[in-house]
Amino acid sequence: MNYYDYLNLSLELHLFFDRIMKEHSLFLELAFTEKENQTRQIAKKFQQAFNKLLQKSVEIAHGNITNNVIASGEFITPNTLIAEQQMNKYFECFIDTNLTKEEQRLNPGRLDIDRKIISDVTYINKEGLSLLKNFIKYQEEVLEQVLTCKIYTNAYPSFINHMLEEARLYDELLTGLFNGQFISKNNLYEQEIFWNHFMKEHALFIRGLLDPSENDSILLADKFAQEYQMIDNRYKGDFSKLTKASFNETLNFQDFNKKQEDLILSCKIKSMIMPLLSDHLLREANHYLRILNNR
Ligand SMILES: [Fe+2]
Repeated sequence: MNYYDYLNLSLELHLFFDRIMKEHSLFLELAFTEKENQTRQIAKKFQQAFNKLLQKSVEIAHGNITNNVIASGEFITPNTLIAEQQMNKYFECFIDTNLTKEEQRLNPGRLDIDRKIISDVTYINKEGLSLLKNFIKYQEEVLEQVLTCKIYTNAYPSFINHMLEEARLYDELLTGLFNGQFISKNNLYEQEIFWNHFMKEHALFIRGLLDPSENDSILLADKFAQEYQMIDNRYKGDFSKLTKASFNETLNFQDFNKKQEDLILSCKIKSMIMPLLSDHLLREANHYLRILNNR
């Protein structure tokens, strides 16, 4: 792989996944009771560490990232800041909104390859990989404790598992890049299976977190979950049909996620969905759409 691809793909991965990981850490912190203070504190430390890593990535990315990926809405959406402000209103979580404002000012530009940027990107890749290994281990331990009923959580165990799977995917992609492996066609097919599975689970989480009286949205969320399942069953093994069906489905799902977020942020729907979770889910749909678009 040439330097241009290595730097470009590394920065894109960090800007998307570091924020996802930082928010997963926050969701984990908020999922446990006061009694599990140690578990919460570890989650908080991860949140701070991913925040720092994202900050560094944003600094490096200024002027070095394509407009196409900024415009995809996978790093931040027009509502991310509002969602964070609402979180700070509801919880004692002190989200770093300055970093989000910094990202709003992220400039596109043609990547300039020099020694400094190569060493900076290699630094964040190394940092990211070691942080991820620890984060994966922590999530595995937490999940084990939840599944054996040693600790209580207000998050679905499947949601904790889902976050763990996303961390493993990030680890796999970053490790590949770090070792100079280009993302192959094979790998893209696997990513599609992965992301369809993630989208299906998002739909199921939304379904389960809506107030039982929100019938229309519940039925719609359930329909998306069923359709993603159907796409995988029907087109497994046929890459081009799978991509086409996944693209159409995710376009609709992106729209559903957008509408749900608008309703949540404007207090027009009853649910237990945290404002930042709804923005987070939309960003993942945006990210998946960009991958599908680039096929
Ligand atoms: Fe997800």
